[in-house]
Amino acid sequence: MRVAMALALLLTGVAVAPPAGADPRIVGGVVVDAPNPYPWVVALADQNGRQFCGGAIVSRYQVVTAAHCVNGLTGRDVLVVAGRLDVTKPGGTVHPVSQVYVHSAYRSATSGADIAYLLTSTPMPYEPIALAKPSETGLYRAGITGTAFGWGRTSESGSTSPVLRKVSVPLQTNEVCAAAYPGYYQSSSMFCAGLPNGGKDACQGDSGGPFIIAGRLAGLVSWGVGCARPEYPGVYTRVGVYT
Ligand code: ARG
Repeated sequence: MRVAMALALLLTGVAVAPPAGADPRIVGGVVVDAPNPYPWVVALADQNGRQFCGGAIVSRYQVVTAAHCVNGLTGRDVLVVAGRLDVTKPGGTVHPVSQVYVHSAYRSATSGADIAYLLTSTPMPYEPIALAKPSETGLYRAGITGTAFGWGRTSESGSTSPVLRKVSVPLQTNEVCAAAYPGYYQSSSMFCAGLPNGGKDACQGDSGGPFIIAGRLAGLVSWGVGCARPEYPGVYTRVGVYT
């Protein structure tokens, strides 16, 4: 029953009103003010300049994002907008993309390997973030707090944010994640984070954006049922297993 509902929501994207008491604001986060302390956060925009996902600079010419953000796209479909907190205003730098590399094991966000990287054709003049390493399994211990970044919706059925936001949430145990998403959650390729009572989460439009633990790019915003709902933590790509 729960699985069927989750599947229906994931496939149709039908927005269901958030439960009463859910914080209507990323959801439950704060605005990032200038000067930007997180220069490696980037927006992915289409050729019309519309932001559709997030990403992170990992080297001068490379951005890591979620596979579901760029699957099926070519470099011509994506622009990397770097160094810009308000995506509705000029500022920072815009970089064409020469190649899109989606992980070969990727099928859909809920089946894992939701990771891709973009090769930019011009160098990005911003500091990169270090990738979590396969040996750094300790980053993913339940109870550790990480921070998600993005320009996504500030409530489940609300509008996206013109300015970059961030929200900090604790990692949940694999048991909690699997109980929330039976049949979908896979600890080998994902982790989940959120508060038991909801209120803080990533949301639509934040996908591909970084989730930082201890100064490392440890996760990517991937999927969830609704946003910031009690008992439905956000699910993130377990970056450390792919680097
Ligand atoms: N798939 C969404 C996107 O494309 C991100 C969903 C994240 N949801 C969540 N509850 N954390 O933007």
